[in-house]
Formats: sequence, C-alpha cells, structure tokens
Amino acid sequence: MNETPYPPLPNVRRIVEDGAGRINRYPDHATGALLAALSARLEVPQAQIVVGPGSAGLCQHLIQALGPQRGEVVHAALSFEAYPLLIANAGARPVPVPLAGYRHDLAAMAAAVTPDTRCVLLCNPNNPTGAVLHRAEIDEFLDRLPPEVMVIVDEAYREFVTDPDVPDMVQHAKGRENVCVLRTFSKAYGLAALRVGYAVAPPGVATATRMLGGVFFPNSFGQAAAVASLDTVAEAELATRCAELARYRQQLTERLLGLGLPVAPSEANFVWLPLGTDAEPFTERCRRAGILVRGYPGLGVRVTVGDTGANERLCAVASNFVSTGLSAVVS
Ligand SMILES: Cc1ncc(COP(=O)(O)O)c(C=O)c1O
Repeated sequence: MNETPYPPLPNVRRIVEDGAGRINRYPDHATGALLAALSARLEVPQAQIVVGPGSAGLCQHLIQALGPQRGEVVHAALSFEAYPLLIANAGARPVPVPLAGYRHDLAAMAAAVTPDTRCVLLCNPNNPTGAVLHRAEIDEFLDRLPPEVMVIVDEAYREFVTDPDVPDMVQHAKGRENVCVLRTFSKAYGLAALRVGYAVAPPGVATATRMLGGVFFPNSFGQAAAVASLDTVAEAELATRCAELARYRQQLTERLLGLGLPVAPSEANFVWLPLGTDAEPFTERCRRAGILVRGYPGLGVRVTVGDTGANERLCAVASNFVSTGLSAVVS
C-alpha cells in the first residue's frame, strides 16, 4: 500500500514506546502542538489547518463539509481507488473522468463540471499511475472553473516528487479561495499505522470540516510522532530517505524497461506497469514469490518501490515472467 520501506526514526520510536505508559490519558482534543508545528512549518494560519485520522478520512469530511447543495464530485479514473467510496460516504455522487494516457485529462474534467458539481478531486502525483500535473496546467484549470466549485488536491505522495514543475499546492494556492490540499504522514513520514493526515483549506471550509471529525483524533501517539517528524533534524533525515527512494524508483524503472516491460514515468514511491491482460498473471507470479503488488485486472500493476533487496527480488520475478510468462505485451 505504498508504505515506506524505512524503519521509524529513532525519536519517533522512542515517543511511541514511552507513550505506552500513559495510555490511560486522553489525547489533546485540540491537537494544539501538532497544529502549531504544522502552522509554523507551512506558514499557514492554524484556522486553515485540519488534522485527522489519515488523509482519506479527511477527504470524506471535506467533501461532506462542502455539501449538501450540489451533489457531484468529479474525479479521475484510474485514480485512488477509495475516491468513489469516500464520495458516496460523503453523500455525493462520483463522476469519474477517464485518464488521458497516464495523466488526468483536465480538459475533460473541466467539461464534466455542471451546476451540480460540488468539487473536483485532483490526485498529484496520481495513484496508481504516478503521473503528475504541472503548475501552469493546474492554474489554467483553476481559472477556468466556476469560483463556487472547490478543487481538492490530494498530495499524499508530494514528498517523492523531483520534477520542479510540480507545485507544492499549499504554497502555490495561497490566496485562492477554491483550493483545499490533502497531505498525509502515512507515506514519506512512515507513520501509516498511526493514522495522521491534514488538510489545508479556506477558513470556513476548515471549520466545517473540523466539526465532522470524531473527537480525540489523531490519538496521542499519532500527534506526538507527527510533531517529532516535523522538527528540522527529522525533516532532513526524511528528505534524505525520499531522495534515496526517488533514485531507487529510477533504477527500478530502468531495470524493468530493460527487461522489455512497459513502465510509466512516476513521481511517486511506486511505478505503474500498464500490462493489460498480463496484469493478473504478473500479480499472481509476484504473489507466489512472496511479493505483494497491486494488480488492476486488464489494466496494469502498481509496484511500490522498496529497498534495494525488495526491488532486486521484484526484478528477478519480472525477468522470469518475461522469459516464461503468458505475456501478450512482451511477445
Ligand atoms: C492518493 C491517496 N490519498 C490518500 C491516501 C490515504 O492515506 P492516509 O493513510 O493518510 O489515509 C492514499 C493511500 O493509499 C492515497 O494513495
């Protein structure tokens, strides 16, 4: 599920171990320390930040907070597979717009906006294809939409991006009233099990979203670990890890391409193999070798970039698949 292969930072591990002795106490319901740390780091007022148990849950609450007047949510397909469920849970109807190749089709998404559109979801980089949207095309898209249509940009994989033309939307959209950004501590920060994410939104939307969240989330471990992950030493270590993972991504891509497999360019911590009818046999071959990849039957396979050992094992299976597999794509 696109988790980092790195172990927890030593300080984060200590916080969780030490916290075990205090689980009789409730977490800070106002998440004060985490809001203060995020506000300082992002240079965004606390009134615009909502923290919650993972960015997926926050995505649902944001969509819910933007309703109920208009009922449709436009999103890309193929994209994060939870979107249709989150949209439906928020009382809205998903309006999927097919990708153009591996990328969002922004022209088609703009054309899918109607007077009933509540918001548009952009996933940048896109899960599972790894493709990115650039600054200029996002600006053009935002300028084109009616001002009442909110655009939620899901940046769950932002920290793995090396392409300089991909905007940091928290900074880039400052001053825009029609943009919300979702971020998570689950991926690059390595805190997936602790369930911490945040949204940056216009103050009114942030307040409405906060009202929908459960009380006492994230829990004490999640709050403290996220705060510790935002200090300058931890941030530097995490940035080093992300840069290393981006190099592994490049190496893995080149190895798989070298074997003759199709690989889409990725800016995330996973790569997309558009294997078509070979997606299922490839996924099964990996499973039998003890490697969990994400197969999308008839479309492709998403492979999370691991450490060098895991990537080697994947390449060995891929090599074997190419030489002996049922490959329609390769043959
Ligand atoms: C695009 C995208 N958004 C959000 C999430 C959810 O992350 P979280 O663990 O913060 O709920 C994921 C997880 O796979 C994802 O791929």
